Amino acid sequence: MSIKTAKNQKFMTDRTMTSSSAVLTLLLTFYCSGNTYGEELNNRRFPQDFMFGVATASYQVEGAWNEDGKGVNIWDVATHQVPSPVVNNATGDVACDSYHQYKRDVAILKEIGADFYRFSLSWSRILPSGFDDKVNKAGVKYYKNLIKELRANNITPLVTLFHWDLPQSLQDLGGFQNDIIIDRFVDFARVCFREFGEDVQYWMTFNEPISICHVGYALATLAPQINSPGMGEYLCAHNLMRAHAKAYRMYDEEFRSAQNGLVGIDVNGAWYEPSTNSSEDIEASETLMQFTYGCYAHPIVHGDYPEVMKKNVARRSALQGYTRSRLPEFTPEEIKYMTGTYDYIGVNIYTTELVTPAKGGSISEMGIGPDAQVTSWQPEEWEKSSSSWLKVVPWGARKLLQWLGSNYKGARFIITENGYSDDGRLEDDARLSYYERYLSKIRDAIEFDGVDVFGYTAWSLMDNFEWMRGYSEKFGLYQVDFNSPNRTRTPKKSAKWYANVTRTKCLVETCVE
Ligand SMILES: *[C@@H]1O[C@H](CO)[C@@H](O)[C@H](O)[C@H]1NC(C)=O
Ligand SMILES: *[C@@H]1O[C@H](CO)[C@@H](O)[C@H](O)[C@H]1NC(C)=O
Ligand SMILES: *[C@@H]1O[C@H](CO)[C@@H](O)[C@H](O)[C@H]1NC(C)=O
Ligand SMILES: *[C@@H]1O[C@H](CO)[C@@H](O)[C@H](O)[C@H]1NC(C)=O
Repeated sequence: MSIKTAKNQKFMTDRTMTSSSAVLTLLLTFYCSGNTYGEELNNRRFPQDFMFGVATASYQVEGAWNEDGKGVNIWDVATHQVPSPVVNNATGDVACDSYHQYKRDVAILKEIGADFYRFSLSWSRILPSGFDDKVNKAGVKYYKNLIKELRANNITPLVTLFHWDLPQSLQDLGGFQNDIIIDRFVDFARVCFREFGEDVQYWMTFNEPISICHVGYALATLAPQINSPGMGEYLCAHNLMRAHAKAYRMYDEEFRSAQNGLVGIDVNGAWYEPSTNSSEDIEASETLMQFTYGCYAHPIVHGDYPEVMKKNVARRSALQGYTRSRLPEFTPEEIKYMTGTYDYIGVNIYTTELVTPAKGGSISEMGIGPDAQVTSWQPEEWEKSSSSWLKVVPWGARKLLQWLGSNYKGARFIITENGYSDDGRLEDDARLSYYERYLSKIRDAIEFDGVDVFGYTAWSLMDNFEWMRGYSEKFGLYQVDFNSPNRTRTPKKSAKWYANVTRTKCLVETCVE
């Protein structure tokens, strides 16, 4: 998950609030009261065409890491390092064994009543060398079988082309820091559209670009574990956005008329709440929103990075002695080419952080935090999950959607992830409560703020390999017995609750239409 990773890691240098102000205490008393604490849930039924689904990602569930001709990717390499960077030396070598258990996956999707299943394609399973010299028939067949099984059960596939498992061959050339990634990604996307596009209506190019670039190339806490804040991470962002746009345009030119699908990308971060109502804090919040969401959504909507991002990075780069900004520029042709390269925008929603301007700090510091000149944190008192970065803040979901709706007018959104981590217990009341309170705020954003949200995806279908946290943090609606050869899946209480929601499209006993 996410800056969950950043789904799962926090971005900035965080500091812990030592003393909570009276204002904060008030806020907390008010906001931390979820439904189980007396807050009313939205009682309006979701629209009839609203879609409910669940998500996984290839490396987190498939296993079969070296079977049937699959090539090596950066997560195979990261998890096999000695010493291992992963909790308990865990790997995704077998994970949930979905490569062999996919029929069981579809069976539990059916039990949940999912309208759609969001999963990702393993690039190195399809193109073992990373390049398109040889298409691995067994890899293609696996995904064709999965899609066929989904179709037979009336479940719509929503396919992410890239959820972090880059072929190692491309990483050896610099990964997203090298612009050869652009055409290589387009080559991979073309194979996928050609092989699967007749049966896939919803495509996502990249999952959580900021996790890929910021966490992978600056914080170094996701593969490829590169530590290049403010330099490598911006090169990554620049190449990733151009790869997205080129794949989108290629779909337009080569596939859209025949396949008539939709292509999007998903963005994430926390909701960055101003820590007070001072104009400085409000501005700090806006700046961080632009450096995180804006960095990836602004180019596809408006063709370029947000002004505040260009301005801040250029100013600090000059002060540091660089003769050009560390943030690469799009050419006028690229701006035109990039504008409008989305049919919808996915958003992964997990948590909230408070934001204030950064005080002090050396001019030599680089990276999103120093360039944005902000600092963010979460108060200790906020409701916890099993993940240090994931505090339960339902109201942040509505504010995030309001912000996206007003910044990207006319865009259609789908929540591509939302979820909660615990120890894997079957009686997972805290997860159930998280889901109902977040969904209620999402319903509010649709009803009262007019944000065009057409679907919701729970992360995750089942407990799985949670990146550097291994199997120590569990996000599943289904429990997976990682000691059983078949990786037995068992529904948790939240799965039964979610099955009610997918059936009734309603969060309470009786809904208003
Ligand atoms: C992880 O691997 C190291 C060797 O790199 C070993 O010393 C350690 O005991 C292992 N830890 C676990 C939990 O298996
Ligand atoms: C900030 O202003 C809003 C709207 O006026 C108000 O509802 C909220 O309580 C204020 N928050 C703080 C922390 O003062
Ligand atoms: C594992 O699955 C296979 C095939 O579905 C089944 O025959 C076998 O009994 C299962 N084994 C266990 C231990 O559940
Ligand atoms: C699901 O709905 C049924 C029928 O309304 C109800 O009896 C049951 O308690 C619900 N289950 C959960 C986990 O909410």
